[in-house]
Amino acid sequence: MSTKKRIAIVPGDGIGREVVPQAVRVIQATGAPVEMTQFDWSAERYLADGLTIPPDGFAMLGRDFDAILVGAFGDPRVPSNIHAKEILLGMRFKMDLYANVRPVRLLDAALCPLKGIEPNDIDFVVVRENTEGVYVDVGGVFKQGTLDEIAVQQDINTRKGVERVIRYAFEYCERQKKQDGSPRKRVLMTDKANVMTYAHGLWQRVFKEVSREYPQIKAEHMYVDALCMQMVRDPRQFDVIVTNNMFGDIITDLAAGLQGGLGMAASGNIHPGKTSMFEPVHGSAPPIAGKNVANPFGAILTAAMMLNHLGLAREAERIEAAVLEAVRQKKTTQDIGGALGTREAGNWVASFINHA
Ligand code: NAD
Ligand code: IPM
Ligand code: MN
Repeated sequence: MSTKKRIAIVPGDGIGREVVPQAVRVIQATGAPVEMTQFDWSAERYLADGLTIPPDGFAMLGRDFDAILVGAFGDPRVPSNIHAKEILLGMRFKMDLYANVRPVRLLDAALCPLKGIEPNDIDFVVVRENTEGVYVDVGGVFKQGTLDEIAVQQDINTRKGVERVIRYAFEYCERQKKQDGSPRKRVLMTDKANVMTYAHGLWQRVFKEVSREYPQIKAEHMYVDALCMQMVRDPRQFDVIVTNNMFGDIITDLAAGLQGGLGMAASGNIHPGKTSMFEPVHGSAPPIAGKNVANPFGAILTAAMMLNHLGLAREAERIEAAVLEAVRQKKTTQDIGGALGTREAGNWVASFINHA
């Protein structure tokens, strides 16, 4: 039996189709023992024959693959975004990938829009609940199109869902070191419990309970509006942040801004022990798609995160070191100050790995 890790590759739409091939060639450059299989699930495919993902797609991914690498979904020709919901949110929900782990690391001071910040000052992680909240698609409209129209969108928070993601954050804090090798020490839960008293009241109670099991870790809390201000004012203070699905979505775009923009941010959608899915934080960026200008580093760092998850830590380290060197030497796309195209930046990283 092959001991190679089996990876499903789903580039998706827009710049996903440009950055994922660069991540793939970088994985290949490391010589990692993997076997990659490409799937064309995308807006293009949906427009061609109506398929978003085959009915047995999620079961097949869970059975036949060790991990999934995804690009992005979103195409102006599919305004309902139905394919993104069915494929991307489908993987998150139906494969029960409950922890969306989004590391926020500054590789070089030049990438941060804040003054006086050094790389080690920004090294935190957002653990976003990934299977519940306002993303569950429960709700409806009543009297649509009339002046009496009512729109309802439910926010679902279950005891089980809240508890497992909070526990994941504490376990992550215990297990994962910072870039400089120092241990992580704090988990901060952010919510809006002062207004969303029922939903986030549950988060508050569960957070207190779970935190008691980890006396060596400092448990903290901040309302999400204050957190946004603090993230810009002094990002040094953050270590592990845990939050609900929608707040996690929003604050990780803000956090991406601290790292050099959406082109630099990586993420993993994880259920320990199950086939997990890895994707850059950014979307399909239709205005820049097809122009060879998208930054592939978010996708490449995502590939490193995936290899790490698969136990291929050495290969992951080589990728991270190569991206760091590219950033230092400004062998990058224009969004972070270089002059290279998507392919050329990917090529630089792949050849650095080949020759290192
Ligand atoms: P976006 O992330 O696609 O783009 C936001 C901004 O960041 C744009 O200015 C874009 O040019 C820039 N940007 C993003 N990635 C970049 C990269 N790699 N290099 C350089 N610049 C980059 O978000 P949006 O514009 O709000 O959404 C566009 C589409 O993508 C929508 O259909 C949205 O629903 C979808 N989307 C998908 C995902 C996903 O699949 N995970 C995530 C976010 C948005
Ligand atoms: C993300 C995206 C998705 C989300 C969209 C495309 C559904 O913004 O992965 O951050 O909101 O989770
Ligand atoms: Mn988002």
